[in-house]
Amino acid sequence: MDKNYAIEMLGITKRFGPVVANDSIDLRICRGEILALLGENGSGKTTLMNMLSGIYQPDEGEIYKDGGRIYIQSPREAYDHGIGMIHQHYKLIEVFTAAQNIILGLNDGRLDIAAADRKVMEICDRYGFDIDPEKKVYDMSVSQKQTVEIVKVLYRGADILILDEPTAVLTPQETQRLFTILRNMKDDGKAIIIITHKLHEVMDVSDKVAVLRKGRYIGTVQTSQTDPQALTDMMVGHSVSLNIERPLYQNPEPKLIVEGLTCVDEEGITRLDKVSFTANTGEILGVAGISGSGQKELLEAITGLYPVKAGSIRFLDGTGTDVELVGMSPKKIRETGVGMAFVPEDRLGMGLVGSMGMTGNMLLRSWKKGKGALVRRKEPSELAERVMEELEVVTPGIDYPVRRLSGGNVQKVLVGREISSEPEVLMTAYAVRGLDINTSYTIYNLLTEQKMRGVAVIYVGEDLDVLLELADRILVLCGGQVAGIVDARKATKEEIGLLMTQFRTEEA
Ligand SMILES: Nc1ncnc2c1ncn2[C@@H]1O[C@H](COP(=O)(O)OP(=O)(O)OP(=O)(O)O)[C@@H](O)[C@H]1O
Ligand SMILES: [Mg+2]
Repeated sequence: MDKNYAIEMLGITKRFGPVVANDSIDLRICRGEILALLGENGSGKTTLMNMLSGIYQPDEGEIYKDGGRIYIQSPREAYDHGIGMIHQHYKLIEVFTAAQNIILGLNDGRLDIAAADRKVMEICDRYGFDIDPEKKVYDMSVSQKQTVEIVKVLYRGADILILDEPTAVLTPQETQRLFTILRNMKDDGKAIIIITHKLHEVMDVSDKVAVLRKGRYIGTVQTSQTDPQALTDMMVGHSVSLNIERPLYQNPEPKLIVEGLTCVDEEGITRLDKVSFTANTGEILGVAGISGSGQKELLEAITGLYPVKAGSIRFLDGTGTDVELVGMSPKKIRETGVGMAFVPEDRLGMGLVGSMGMTGNMLLRSWKKGKGALVRRKEPSELAERVMEELEVVTPGIDYPVRRLSGGNVQKVLVGREISSEPEVLMTAYAVRGLDINTSYTIYNLLTEQKMRGVAVIYVGEDLDVLLELADRILVLCGGQVAGIVDARKATKEEIGLLMTQFRTEEA
């Protein structure tokens, strides 16, 4: 009960049935400080923060604000105590404007729109936000939506802000902009807690780092006194290697030949413009680009989910026969026996069924297997067990509903399932997004293992350092066009950065 702390959480325990999500955790944060909350997937970060923001109540433990005990029974009560949380999944109303969302639920009918607008603009000026109060949410980019969420929390008078993986969906530029704002808020005396799995961000923006492991509090360190390796070891509990091996596959052969692929969206905008490349067996082909450069459309076109206007996608089945994939539905592609696996960007939307357990979700996948598969597929429960073990999925059991798992663990289930389907072409979009650093490296190793088995891997990524270490070649997309295909063993970050923005001026 120290007055110097904006917030003190003492001996916090939270259980969900058999799961002890938080086990007697202590956490302290001061004003004028950015605290990074770090821990592996399922270590209890979101749960702990949900208790500060009034979504859950602790089973045991006490919370103090400025030295006085507080009880937080609901998000509204959290606001009354000046605590606001920006959740990973935004809770905005799509048909409302920014301003409407910000003031929503605050005034009992008697609303002075002009005054509200003024207050919003004041907040924006003070911390450097850039929003259009009249813009409707459905017209906004992810980063704009996030800005609205933050302004909403500030509008309610929060001086203790919690951000749960705010950068997971932001571009590097947007992340930098967010960090500038967080620093402004910190200088203004606010207390900020940020959850992120990206250690370079932790090093960049935080003053202190608090580490959780398997629901327990491990300790807090000064950011200036630590480094990514030390933090990783602290998180995992033993030393882990942060190196990616990149073995060379001996006989690469073309597996997927894409020629002149052109896709146009519903509004008539060209999303992919005469894209041509070859994906080889035994190779990881990285795909780089500013977000929205056509990455999503490319993978979806190959899997039959996005309409193709022109061009061809040929799958070479190894017996000398080509299969033209353009014009085929995903179902047809599977029935033809084309072994393709896909980890999409939108996990729960397309990939998994939340109410089912791991086994059920495995079954879903093997069910979809074409009749062409002669080898008897492994039993779903066997697969589920293997994925659980290999990726260390934190779950009470393979039949526990997937939606109850932590964000990162849901992700592991999907990636694990796709890899274990033994595909010939494996495509992943942002495979490690939301995954802790240890699991990210496990995924890199699994992808490399697949490559050495002769799989053609297409890896859409956002971290250029990882692309340069993991991939064999990197295809750079810019505005739906191929800006270049480079040898990842020789290319530099600068070179790729330039290619990523190559056609930008023409567009504007
Ligand atoms: N509503 C719930 N019902 C059942 N179990 C839950 C619930 N919320 C969280 N859990 C469990 O509590 C544990 C901690 O989850 P939490 O979401 O806090 O982890 P996290 O550290 O935020 O992980 P990630 O980095 O993956 O987001 C997990 O084992 C999770 O399955
Ligand atoms: Mg979480």
